[in-house]
Amino acid sequence: MHLFSYRKGELYAEDVPVKKLAMLYGTPLYIYSYTTLLTHFRAYRDAFDDLPHIVCFALKANTNAALLRLIAKNGGGADVVSGGEIFRALRAGIPTKKIVYAGVGKTEEEIRYALKSRVLMFNVESGNELIEIDRIAGVMKVKAPIALRVNPDIDPGTHPYIATGLRKHKFGIPIEEALECYELAHSLANTTIVGIHKHIGSQITKVSPFVDALHKVLLLMDALHDRGIEVPYLDIGGGLGITYKDEEPPIPRDLAKSLIPMLKGSNVTLILEPGRSIAGNAGILVSRVLYLKQRAEKSFVIIDAGMNDLMRPSLYGAYHHIQPLEKKKRKMIFADVVGPICESGDFLAKDRELPAPKPGEYLAVMSAGAYGFSMSSRYNSRPRPAEVMVKGNEHSLIHGRETYNDLIRGEHIPDFM
Ligand code: LLP
Repeated sequence: MHLFSYRKGELYAEDVPVKKLAMLYGTPLYIYSYTTLLTHFRAYRDAFDDLPHIVCFALKANTNAALLRLIAKNGGGADVVSGGEIFRALRAGIPTKKIVYAGVGKTEEEIRYALKSRVLMFNVESGNELIEIDRIAGVMKVKAPIALRVNPDIDPGTHPYIATGLRKHKFGIPIEEALECYELAHSLANTTIVGIHKHIGSQITKVSPFVDALHKVLLLMDALHDRGIEVPYLDIGGGLGITYKDEEPPIPRDLAKSLIPMLKGSNVTLILEPGRSIAGNAGILVSRVLYLKQRAEKSFVIIDAGMNDLMRPSLYGAYHHIQPLEKKKRKMIFADVVGPICESGDFLAKDRELPAPKPGEYLAVMSAGAYGFSMSSRYNSRPRPAEVMVKGNEHSLIHGRETYNDLIRGEHIPDFM
């Protein structure tokens, strides 16, 4: 669900007309719906109520402090993949004991920061990383709580760039090698085994890959139990898909219905790491039409948002629905919706049939709340957009539009020049 809907032909974000926000805060503009975010978060919390669990929001989907505060205030945790994300999670008030730290390339500095912060666990991606974490924990005279990220070799049936759980991917430890790696962890002086982690990919639109992967992980847990190794936390990652176009992904309740019976009697605390399914449909990107360009072979709608603001269409060929803020009778056109960036790959929609907009009008790019702003850049020296949160009829700027001064912050011209 989401709370961006038309009332008398005008698009609203909850109870506020989107056009009002676009005019007040300027464009390009990210708008998030508080109530949508909360509803999505609660859907996880309630679905898994029968089991001890923590919903650790995947920060990579959206790192805005206001959104993270919402997660923190409602008892959520964080799935982080860098020192920077640990910093953001802590600053937003997420308790350290609800932070899980993954990533294939943790640096010594980041490992120290995570140990100092006392995160719940490191999701360790290789034997060598395990040894390095143990060494650093030894130097700091602390114990490192670890889970091994196992790669269950399951095809999630998603875009190749966002599938992670196959043998050919750089992520995790092949499940056949996991036992040996756990035994290594067990033998290390400064390491405490606390869990198992797996994540097989993103934008998954079926329950079966989650079931298949969990099945493999539970077999591993049994084998560990036989060796006297208990794992109190089972982290099943994120990955539930959303509707961008016509997908009909399962909802958390569907996932819970299949997974909870598999976990009965296993005595673990479940960790979930959803990102997209919480934030994706809770945000839109609003942009203004600058020009129309009609050619015999093709039409272009040129807007003030580009691939630097929302990278998904250029990077993955991802579909985002684009709609005008005002619904009225219009002729339909076929066009590419493109941004101002000097690249042919700068498009938000390709060969799209859409109601003809006029220059000066606004368009809403839907489902942009996850991996939208968090993947944005300043390419072509474009300051990054503003972000606004709406709750009912209230709205507030949650990230100011960047300025030209932000573009050059930290730059330095050497004295020898
Ligand atoms: N946990 C781990 C270990 C992950 O790698 C990811 C996402 C998640 C959780 C959250 O997955 P989600 O629930 O959001 O599917 N930029 C891409 C998506 C990359 C996902 C990377 N990992 C996109 O825009 O589609």
